[in-house]
Amino acid sequence: MAITYCDKDKTFHIYTNKTSYIFNILEGGLLHHLYFGKKLSKFSPENLMAYKDAAFSPINKTFGISLDTIKLEYPTYGSSDMRAPAVHVKLENGSTISEFKYDSHKIFNGKPKLEGLPATYVEHENEAQTLEICLVDELTGLKAYLLYTAFENMNAITRSVRFENTGNKALTLLQASSVSVDFDRADFDFLHLSGAWARERHIERSPLRSGIQSIESRRGASSHQHNPFIALLDKNTDEDHGDIYGFSLVYSGNFLANVEVDQLKKTRVTMGINPFNFEWRLEPGEIFQTPEVVMVYSNNGIGDMSRTYHKLYRTRLCRGKYRDSVRPILINNWEATYFNFNEEKIMKLAKTAKELGIELFVLDDGWFGKRNDDSSSLGDWFVNKEKLPNGLPALVKKVNELGMKFGLWFEPEMISPDSELYRAHPDWCLHVPDRTRSEGRNQLVLDFSRQDVRDAVYTMISDILKSAPIAYVKWDMNRHMTEVGSAALPANRQRETAHRYMLGLYSMLEKLTSEFPDVLFESCSGGGGRYDPGMLYYMPQTWTSDDTDAIERLKIQYGTSIVYPPSTMGAHVSAVPNHQIHRITPLKTRGDVAMSGMFGYELDLNSMTEDEQEEVREQIQFYKEIRTLVQFGDFYRLKSPFEGNETAWMHVAENQSKCYVVYCRVLAKPCDTFVKLKLKGLKETSTYKLLGTDKIYSGDELMYSGILIEPLPGDFQTRTWVFVEE
Ligand code: DGJ
Repeated sequence: MAITYCDKDKTFHIYTNKTSYIFNILEGGLLHHLYFGKKLSKFSPENLMAYKDAAFSPINKTFGISLDTIKLEYPTYGSSDMRAPAVHVKLENGSTISEFKYDSHKIFNGKPKLEGLPATYVEHENEAQTLEICLVDELTGLKAYLLYTAFENMNAITRSVRFENTGNKALTLLQASSVSVDFDRADFDFLHLSGAWARERHIERSPLRSGIQSIESRRGASSHQHNPFIALLDKNTDEDHGDIYGFSLVYSGNFLANVEVDQLKKTRVTMGINPFNFEWRLEPGEIFQTPEVVMVYSNNGIGDMSRTYHKLYRTRLCRGKYRDSVRPILINNWEATYFNFNEEKIMKLAKTAKELGIELFVLDDGWFGKRNDDSSSLGDWFVNKEKLPNGLPALVKKVNELGMKFGLWFEPEMISPDSELYRAHPDWCLHVPDRTRSEGRNQLVLDFSRQDVRDAVYTMISDILKSAPIAYVKWDMNRHMTEVGSAALPANRQRETAHRYMLGLYSMLEKLTSEFPDVLFESCSGGGGRYDPGMLYYMPQTWTSDDTDAIERLKIQYGTSIVYPPSTMGAHVSAVPNHQIHRITPLKTRGDVAMSGMFGYELDLNSMTEDEQEEVREQIQFYKEIRTLVQFGDFYRLKSPFEGNETAWMHVAENQSKCYVVYCRVLAKPCDTFVKLKLKGLKETSTYKLLGTDKIYSGDELMYSGILIEPLPGDFQTRTWVFVEE
């Protein structure tokens, strides 16, 4: 039993093997939050209760207390709580007050699917337990079903809310957050992952202060700028020690993660779909389901929280054949040729790739319509006969005959104004009548809230996928949304467009991944602009960043690993000088950094020297030996690129019998000397052999004394080690 209800105290206790989450029902049916943290064996609700009157905090007469000074489970606007609400509803009379009271609950094994939305799942009913609480606003008949699922052995608790209008008048949801959690204290640090195109998911950490601090996206995608994840942590929490609370939203569109420190120095976290420019009209009988938030608490530091997310997301969020099967090493032609290719060039690259041991050839942008640069053809998903006169099936056949699989790039959500599709259907893009249509990369966004638009695109894409044995699809998305409006929605539903778009996208991805279960899907949005748990539900890996420079990738991959496992990170070796930032790094360094993700190459192999090609061959052979560690192992961060000149991390087999360690020193320094690197996650009493030598070390020696690193010559140097248990 991971969830209990005590009728005497009217208290719910949701627990995992390490965490307790407790709340009770107060007089009048108010849900009162009590505790979230380290697992409690026993608790008394009076001791956890924290209510105090305060001046200028009016008393709510239904519940007999002020809602402003008490920890609430799902706060509403306007009836004495002055803090940021989780839910805000407009009635037909224009008022925006609601008052939710406990109505009923049920506890059951397993975890229900969320209608139309990605979410974590169970494979067996006994992996998780779910509590569904029904709250009701008596005046309107609006019901809110709060869903809590405890993954007992995975130490994660998920939350979401389903609204149902059981009244006889239409209502409008102005805000419908997935989660709200009140904490007794405010002395936390706030950690989140922010960035920009080519600089995604850099770690930012700062102390909380009074008032609201938030991250959000209004871009129509989860975005490069802010990842839909936040954590609150103790000031002295580090990688291996201390309390941390993670909140990760399983959604790929506009979101808001709000942290408020109130007048009494308490903290409220709310997270969900961004209420900015959002409304959802709920007719009598209609239902609205929020996305889910995955909450992870650890008292063993940031690393333990990350590994908890990694395991859950790798095994119970990602799906499909490639969740558990080894991912192929690929060559992508983008940085090798950009738009300038033909069949001969492609085959020349594929042939060399095969000779070096690469398993999958990916043809990127430019194979369709009349696309020779980024100014045209998105939406025209038929082959460009000038570049590929023999057609796609013939090319795929030739690549397959070399002994390689074939993969293809699409950008299905977009339309170029210069395309046959746009000329036929100028109203199929997101737009607002009589307003300009802002272009990003010369393109507009298709209105995926519309079934007819999705159907037409689906047919074109599935026709291509059926026309040849295509084993991999890169699903790209290269601009954010502007003039968000739909020609298919009435005026009072225009503010639903952005969320309807996401629901449309998800339904298309569900259909496509079900129809083509053997295809490996990789999502991409100008690199990592939509690197979120929502997309991972459909596609088990994401192109981490368009920035392929190994040194920039240290921070990007390290930051990404705060939530997402290495099995989700596409990572490629590219040419030097690097095309994004023009830095020159050794081939070894580029290989060593990329090998901590789902590995590939993205450069013209034919313009490399024979020595370089030999090095590539060796890298590929080596990756084949360690790739299961990277894909399925536990990830430990050892040294942070955000804190100094060195970065280190390691991948450890689940049974701790083998590990792969990567170390990078960015800049050379004078008077260099030996340094020690302490490993983690090994068995103290086992002995480990350093692969390629006859040296034997004990686990405790590797972890507490460390391995010796000699002075390294020059900038951008890496070292790697593989240790195997004796
Ligand atoms: C953006 C992606 O991130 C790149 O890898 C590449 O696929 C280009 N789009 C192609 O236009």
